[in-house]
Amino acid sequence: MKILLTGGTGYIGSHTAVELINRGYDVEIVDNLFNSKITVLDGIEEITGVRPKFYHVDLLDKNKLDEVFANSHYDAVMHFAGLKAVGESVEKPLLYYYNNIGTTINLLEVMKKHKVNKMIFSSSATVYGDQDGVKLTEDSQTGVGITNPYGQTKYMIEQILKDTATANPDFEVTILRYFNPVGAHASGLIGEDPNDIPNNLMPIIMKVSTGEIPTLSVYGNDYNTPDGTGMRDYIHVVDLACGHVMAIEKMGPGVQIYNLGTGEATSVMEMIRAFEKASGKSLPYKITARRPGDLAKVFADPTKAEMELKWKTKLTIADAMRDTINYLKHYEKK
Ligand code: NAD
Ligand code: WQD
Repeated sequence: MKILLTGGTGYIGSHTAVELINRGYDVEIVDNLFNSKITVLDGIEEITGVRPKFYHVDLLDKNKLDEVFANSHYDAVMHFAGLKAVGESVEKPLLYYYNNIGTTINLLEVMKKHKVNKMIFSSSATVYGDQDGVKLTEDSQTGVGITNPYGQTKYMIEQILKDTATANPDFEVTILRYFNPVGAHASGLIGEDPNDIPNNLMPIIMKVSTGEIPTLSVYGNDYNTPDGTGMRDYIHVVDLACGHVMAIEKMGPGVQIYNLGTGEATSVMEMIRAFEKASGKSLPYKITARRPGDLAKVFADPTKAEMELKWKTKLTIADAMRDTINYLKHYEKK
């Protein structure tokens, strides 16, 4: 089975490429390298022994994308490509709407032309908006209280995919709503290496540990949580990647939606302590004001994925910290 990964040199795409190749799938990647590096292909090759065919193409360039599809027949597409920096999306909304939605529409049109009818889409817990402290199921309300254009693009793309499936009964789409991906491949050869300034907790912790950022700002310790800091459902990126393999094996008619999370919530202070324990070093931090739009506790009910995809997370926060530190060591050596 041949699968095209858009955004496949990115953080989640590259880990998914590894898991797919390890299970015998034929993987090709298209990415404009806006937020990833070509050297990711070396990491994938070193881990799997296979270097995926790579197209340096912007999905906004529909003619070039069409050429990619004209070269090979794909059985399915995993659509990871997109911009994801929440803060930047507030400052540059049009860039986010244009890139995330434009790429998806181009992709759907080109897929239709080339009769590729299966897609897995990278959605996000952000579609659940401002629901706080409740275990989110796939049936929880979506689209209400989304505080930024990035989140809106995910919600809108979900709608576009549902409408596409209604119009074309041959189209099969699985929407995966990721919670908070963390960690790296156990080899330390691939991990999270954003080109932009990160605003997610884990890449910031990484930059504080290497001294690139002096101090971690903990955004508030007055939430209604046991230690007062915000809690999230952090999922190891390799577990997340495996979720894609299970999803592709279970594709069916119409639209399927799954949460990919652990079902557990961990606080910012617990994440700091876990990183310190794994690294043996203390992490400088200070308590600052809450970040606007943040919620106290966001976590998944992953039961549906467990029951239908036979998928469950296996790796822990401690594993994620160990693998992140291992990745940082490899990275420093380069
Ligand atoms: P990433 O930035 O590491 O990977 C995305 C890739 O898409 C990058 O390599 C980037 O260069 C590429 N890309 C962006 N625009 C493109 C375009 N116009 N044409 C071609 N390539 C383009 O991000 P990630 O963390 O791997 O996320 C993958 C997907 O998962 C994204 O859609 C993201 O919104 C979604 N997601 C991520 C998280 C998270 O916290 N990491 C959570 C939920 C959902
Ligand atoms: C996690 C926790 C912060 C940075 C975002 C997107 C969401 C999804 C995942 C893609 C919160 C705290 C953070 C820092 C901190 N992405 N924090 N200091 O907010 O759950 O979600 O990423 O779809 O759409 O909104 O993740 O990693 O930004 O924050 O204290 O410097 O860490 O307050 O409690 P979040 P995050």
